[in-house]
Amino acid sequence: MGLTVSPVSKLRGSFSVSGDKSITHRAFIFSSISRSEVFVRNPNRGEDVMRTLVAMQSVGAKAREEKDGFYIKGIGLSNVKEPENILYCGNSGTTMRLLSGLFAGINGKLFIADGDESLKKRPMKRVIEPISLMGGKIWGRRGNAFAPLAIKGAKLHGISYKMKVASAQVKSAIILAALSADGKTVIDEKARSRNHTEIMLKEFGGKIETNGKITVYPTDNLRYDELFVPGDFSSAAYFIALALIAKDADIVIKNVGVNPTRSYLVNKLKDAGGRIELFNRRIENGEPVCDISVKSSHLHGISVDASEVPLLIDEIPLIGVIGAFSEGKTVVRGASELRVKESDRIKLTVSNLKSFGIEAEEFEDGFSVKGGRAKYGFVKTAFDHRIALSFIIFALAGEGAEIEEVKSINISFPEFFDILERVKNG
Ligand code: S3P
Repeated sequence: MGLTVSPVSKLRGSFSVSGDKSITHRAFIFSSISRSEVFVRNPNRGEDVMRTLVAMQSVGAKAREEKDGFYIKGIGLSNVKEPENILYCGNSGTTMRLLSGLFAGINGKLFIADGDESLKKRPMKRVIEPISLMGGKIWGRRGNAFAPLAIKGAKLHGISYKMKVASAQVKSAIILAALSADGKTVIDEKARSRNHTEIMLKEFGGKIETNGKITVYPTDNLRYDELFVPGDFSSAAYFIALALIAKDADIVIKNVGVNPTRSYLVNKLKDAGGRIELFNRRIENGEPVCDISVKSSHLHGISVDASEVPLLIDEIPLIGVIGAFSEGKTVVRGASELRVKESDRIKLTVSNLKSFGIEAEEFEDGFSVKGGRAKYGFVKTAFDHRIALSFIIFALAGEGAEIEEVKSINISFPEFFDILERVKNG
């Protein structure tokens, strides 16, 4: 259903955002294949991570929901069952790609993975190719390029692989496959991408070396007891952006995950003049966490290049929005990966900016946007949660807008409007 969003000028208060989506996927996977019962505290509860949890339950893991999280009883990698039904991944590329790697090593068992219209258009060769080199057997539509996927578990071999795309999902799929290989696997990343899988594998007692190349050793003896999922930086980013560009804002976001492979936007926004402070820094289960204070700021435009893109990949539509409220030009290049996300995020970022009367130009690998005066806009989301959330922020900081639908925000940030109600207008 569509929504009319009215502007807000004042933001006050201190709050937490939903648990990190990427970390929750991994917590559900590692707990399920562990040989222990793990309490996953403060998980993300969006639709994507629930696809992963249901998939892991359908291969034998047991989950029990409590107010603060989930108890997950693992089964051990070698006891993963053949599911009775198709693994439905919905909109979640992380579920499909990570589980393709994991299940490729479950010898003799068959797994069929499907998704929604958006996921069926997203490239899967990037996972099938390295996993096939390990001896994995995965088939997909149109020459093994697209879902639905059929995965026939096989005996995998360790490989040495130089990645062709800078993708944490692909890297994680290879790491998960490597757990059941017959020897070590070495991964050479194309560019540094989020490293939650590496950190969590180490926490669970796996052997992985991460100095330069990533070396993973097989194991079926992972254990843990309790894991705290920090607030999702990518969700916090919407409120960071809103506070910076709103007229009168002074907020604190607590317990946010600030792994440097995720929170790079903060560096860029500070350089642009953003009044952002990170404090109360600590490490929780191997992941850096802190509180973040943000105040209304006068920003100037930024430039993002290819080497920076993986470190703020999910925040790029939001960078377009922030650019519209900054002085001068904001330019993003080397971001063609955005064309194969839940939607073509380059195209939609530019067309939505234009609907607000903002000057923006589309490039094959990015866009540029000129800070300007926003008018009332009409937002098309293509049911992409990050587009919807980014342009809700635009509407709140600008002159309002009609958003085509907001149901998609349940993919990653179901609590968004509850938090907004608490902090808006003081
Ligand atoms: C994710 C990695 C990123 C990101 C996605 C979640 C993950 O995708 O865009 O939202 O949890 O590993 P790529 O690694 O494919 O760029």
